[in-house]
Amino acid sequence: MLSIGHITVDSPLVLAPMAGISDQPFRLINRSLGCRFAFTEMISARSLVYNNKTTIKMLSSPVEDRPLGVQIVSADSEIIKMALDILSNYPFDIIDFNAACPVHKVVSTGEGAGLLREPVKLQKLMRVMVDHAGKPVTVKIRSGWDEASVNATDIALRAQDAGVKGLFIHGRTRMQGYSGRVDYAIIGKVKKSLTIPVIASGDALSPQLIRKMFVETGCDAVVVARGALGNPWIFRETIEYLKDGTNLCRPHVHEIAQTMKKHLALLVGFLGETTGVIRFRKFFGWYAKGMAVKQLKVKAFNAENSDEMLRLIGEMETLSSYCPPINSDV
Ligand SMILES: Cc1cc2nc3c(=O)[nH]c(=O)nc-3n(C[C@H](O)[C@H](O)[C@H](O)COP(=O)(O)O)c2cc1C
Repeated sequence: MLSIGHITVDSPLVLAPMAGISDQPFRLINRSLGCRFAFTEMISARSLVYNNKTTIKMLSSPVEDRPLGVQIVSADSEIIKMALDILSNYPFDIIDFNAACPVHKVVSTGEGAGLLREPVKLQKLMRVMVDHAGKPVTVKIRSGWDEASVNATDIALRAQDAGVKGLFIHGRTRMQGYSGRVDYAIIGKVKKSLTIPVIASGDALSPQLIRKMFVETGCDAVVVARGALGNPWIFRETIEYLKDGTNLCRPHVHEIAQTMKKHLALLVGFLGETTGVIRFRKFFGWYAKGMAVKQLKVKAFNAENSDEMLRLIGEMETLSSYCPPINSDV
């Protein structure tokens, strides 16, 4: 159970905002296998204000895609106000502010994780968010900019003080990017310092690692990110595992193939044939992870239409009676 503002969801798992990944089809596939609460891809507040067509498309969601949070990135209070004004026309349940993105193009303009180096400015921006969103606001941070400046507790307290209703924390510094050790201790410290819910992120790659995150940090919920790439079953399996430590039965290759077909159809419906197939290419590799189908993965990476992709999924199913092993690298 997770409560943020007036939103309550009956699961302690949240599907991450992931740029280039967390589109509507991806969210729906994960929801079909136990995800209860999801986020859009990160949205540039500036692109939104400039009415960028691709950005506007990222905002669309059918009713079965709820509750849903939207995440924005910006370091400009006026742009943020305008973006929030536009977002007020959409049925998002939560608006999250990104102070975690490590990408050079983002931090070099002072946005994303760049704001971790400017706690006072970040706090002001969070106040602007809270005052203008008209909905619960959350913030996503990292443990700090680098090893020498781990300031998550200070930032988290400022966020709470600004009226933020929940805090997402990736237990790595900006300089670590997506690799290296997750700092469970700093997440635990932040959790102890706050009264608002703390939702932890970092290496939530298997039911065991997600349980480890809860045990080590005392967090209220966990963000599932890379663990859901080609593996929407992680939601179903983790819920079972958290209940009684059992039921780690992996999907059969037939179920994987069926899910891939559904995902491909959703992508083609949402983005059109060409773009939908291109976006599915990387998912083929993720779904087929661990299967001995290297040639098929190469072909899928070059597939140009859904008929070709469907044929490759069929071949994968025939060639592989394989079920991926349980990832137990706790
Ligand atoms: C491809 C990709 C895109 C991401 N995009 C975003 C994003 O737009 N906003 C965000 O807050 N985090 C983003 N993240 C970070 C994840 O939400 C998560 O915090 C991070 O991957 C750590 O979790 P994990 O180790 O379990 O994957 C992204 C991660 C990946 C792998």
